[in-house]
Parts: sequence; structure tokens; C-alpha cells
Amino acid sequence: MLPPRSDFPDSFTFGAATSAYQIEGSGMGGAGLSHWDTFAATPGNIADDSDGSRACDHLNRWPEDLDLVRDAGFDAYRFSTSWARVMPDGVTVNPEGLDFYDRLVDGMLDRGLKPFLTYHHWDLPAALSAQGGWQNRDIAARFADLCTIINARIGDRAASAATLNEPWCIAWLSHFLGHHAPGLRDIRAASRAMHHVLLAHGTAVRALRAEGARNLGIVLNFETSHAADDSPEAEQAAETQDAIYNQWFIRALMGQGYPDAALKGIGPHLPQGWENDMDLIAQPLDWLGVNYYTRRLYTGGHGLWPHSAEAPGPLPKTQMEWEIRPEGLTEFLIRLARDHTGSLPLYVTENGMSLQAGPDVTQDDRRVQFIADHLRATRAAIAGGVDVRGFFYWSLLDNYEWGWGYGPRFGLVHVDYETMTRTPKSSWHAFRDMLKG
Ligand code: FCB
Repeated sequence: MLPPRSDFPDSFTFGAATSAYQIEGSGMGGAGLSHWDTFAATPGNIADDSDGSRACDHLNRWPEDLDLVRDAGFDAYRFSTSWARVMPDGVTVNPEGLDFYDRLVDGMLDRGLKPFLTYHHWDLPAALSAQGGWQNRDIAARFADLCTIINARIGDRAASAATLNEPWCIAWLSHFLGHHAPGLRDIRAASRAMHHVLLAHGTAVRALRAEGARNLGIVLNFETSHAADDSPEAEQAAETQDAIYNQWFIRALMGQGYPDAALKGIGPHLPQGWENDMDLIAQPLDWLGVNYYTRRLYTGGHGLWPHSAEAPGPLPKTQMEWEIRPEGLTEFLIRLARDHTGSLPLYVTENGMSLQAGPDVTQDDRRVQFIADHLRATRAAIAGGVDVRGFFYWSLLDNYEWGWGYGPRFGLVHVDYETMTRTPKSSWHAFRDMLKG
């Protein structure tokens, strides 16, 4: 059972989240190739060699999907616009792409759902990737163009808009660890991306404000990083990881500068004159989105970089072997308000678990427990004085889980990828019981 709705403030927003590449079907509707299509086309990058060309066929089935959001009793739907759909070559607008998002947003309003827009959730046009993508400073201007073009079409109806989803994944996971598109393992590329992704955010916020856009934020991911043992090396690895993952972005956004512990390794590779961009990056925001899933343990690593030295943890795990630790969510919400965001409203924009489907695909009681624990963790932060305004479950549907392909299932709704049949799971029913009383 999930905690009752009455445990949360009256105006608290409950929602479900998705992203374009993971559900729409990138091969349809006049979209251009994104760097995810090309990354996925490169053998060995994706666990099951799949791509997002059909995904959940949401491009055609969106009315049914929005019905599922409404029927569960959610107040809001968090979705993203695909850059490669809106601007297939990174420059020219595809009218069919904008028309799709226009209908989608109207579809939300028709169903009484608040549209929570994310401008970019990773599907960078391959044409821009070929010009260096996030390594190229020009990406900031390109991204601001994308945002203003989309805002001009649907901004009037968006309840809220985030520039980017998870800059750590856009920059570090993709250019240093090589797990996501464009699959680089290069400190220079990564450092530049770490800076340009923030520059793109600041440039876009400034441009959107000039157009009168309201309720602007950004979505960051946070992951607890603990030392695996009590050696000084492990402590240091965990601290460096925390600086790169949990502090780099929020500190820059709040005008607090990049953290020293991360600058040690990244600083020498940043673009020249980066200090002059810090004011533009620290644009005033209306809210911050917090994605939280897990914690990781670090042992004494290789020099500056903690990633090469992870240790398995003792806690219960999800299908993807992510440790389940709900109190981490409370800790981050409290820490963010205390150290960085002050009274800025926070939203939990993603939280969820992957769980293998059993013979009865609707049975996901472990997920119901996971959600209940994380809702309680959110409530604990509110009780601790943090202004948390909403909680979005990741994800509405089973979908394309990036490098993992279609194996991991995060959905409240099961998707049969052969027939595209949607089947609500117990967790969907649990939300409905909670939200509809
Ligand atoms: C987050 C991503 C989302 C999904 C979940 C499991 O990092 O924002 O697209 O992959 O993890």
C-alpha cells in the first residue's frame, strides 16, 4: 500500500515520467538520426543490440498512454521533446515534429494533466554530434534555438519546463565513462561537455526568459556515494565521486563555483576562459528537479578517478543491480536545501525501480514497496522543512533503457514489445488507489 495522499500537502503534484527517445519511436514522423541511433547502431554498445526506432510506438499510441496517466489519477505528466524530431539536421525545423508535441500537450490538457516539459533528454541530432556535440561551445546557441522554437509552439500550455535532463549523464557518463552516446572515453571531451552543458542551460534560460517563458528549471541526478571501507583511499574516492556527480552542476547553477575536489582532475581540460561563463550559467531558476535512484560504494581507486573502483553493496537490489536505499532521497533533499538551493522549490522528477517481469506481468509488489518507501522518504524531507512540491514516478511504461536495451522494466504499465499491448501492473493500481482515494 502507498501512503495516503492526505500525508502530502494539498497542492503536492503527483506525476509519471517518460522521455522521447525511450518511448516514441525515433524512426518515424520525419525525425532525423540522433546520436543515440548511431550509438545503438554500433555493435557492442547496447546489451540486446536494440535501438529506439520503434520503442513503445508512443508516436502512434499516445492517446492510450495519456489515458493511462489520467486513469491512474496523476495530476501531471513529465515528457521530453526530441531534438532530432524537432530539428532533424540540427538546424531545420520539421513541422511534423512540432505538430506532434502540439497535439500531445493538448491531449494532456484535455485529460486534465499538467504538462511538465523537458526540452532535452539526450537525443542530440547526429548532425550536431558530428560537429563535436557537447564538446563544441556552439552547442549552447544551438540548444537555446531549440528551446525557443519549442517554447513558441507549446510554451503557452506547459505548466513547467526543464532545460536538460541529467547533465551528468549527458557529459560524464557519455564522454568519460563511455556508456552512453557518443560513447567517448576522453577526459578532454568530458571536461568540455561538463562545462558546455551548463553553458547551454544558462544560454537557454536567458533566451526563454526573454520570450516570457515561465516556471523554468533543470533536472539533475543525485547518487549517494559512500566509501566501501574505512581506508583513506576509499574515503577520497567517494568524496571525488560526490564532487563530480552531486556537486559540480548544482554548485555552478547556484553561483557557488565548481567544487575543488572535481576541478583537480577536470580543471586542466576545461575550455579556456571558462570562469567568464559562470555568471551566465547561474541564471535564477524557479525550481529544481531531483532524480534519485541508488547509492554506490567506492574503494581506493586509480589516482583521481573513483569510477574504476566500485564495490558491490550489501543492500537489496533492483533488476539492474542498483542498491535500494530510500533514506538517500531524504538525505539529498535536505542537503540540497541546506547547502545549495535554500527556499527554491524542489520536485522529485524521477524515482523508480527496474524489476523483471514474472509469469504474471501485472504482479510487481516489490515495486509497490519501493514506491511506498520513497514516498515516505520524500515526506520525511517535507517534515524536515524542505519545500518539495511533487513526485514523478519513472516510468509510466516499460521502455528503452539506453545501453541496457529493453531488458530492464521500470514501468507502472507493462509493454509487450511484439504486440505493443499495454497492461497496467499492481503498482499502477496502487497509485490509482492512492490518488483516487
Ligand atoms: C535516469 C534517466 C531515465 C532512465 C532512468 C532509469 O537516469 O533520466 O531516462 O533511464 O534513469
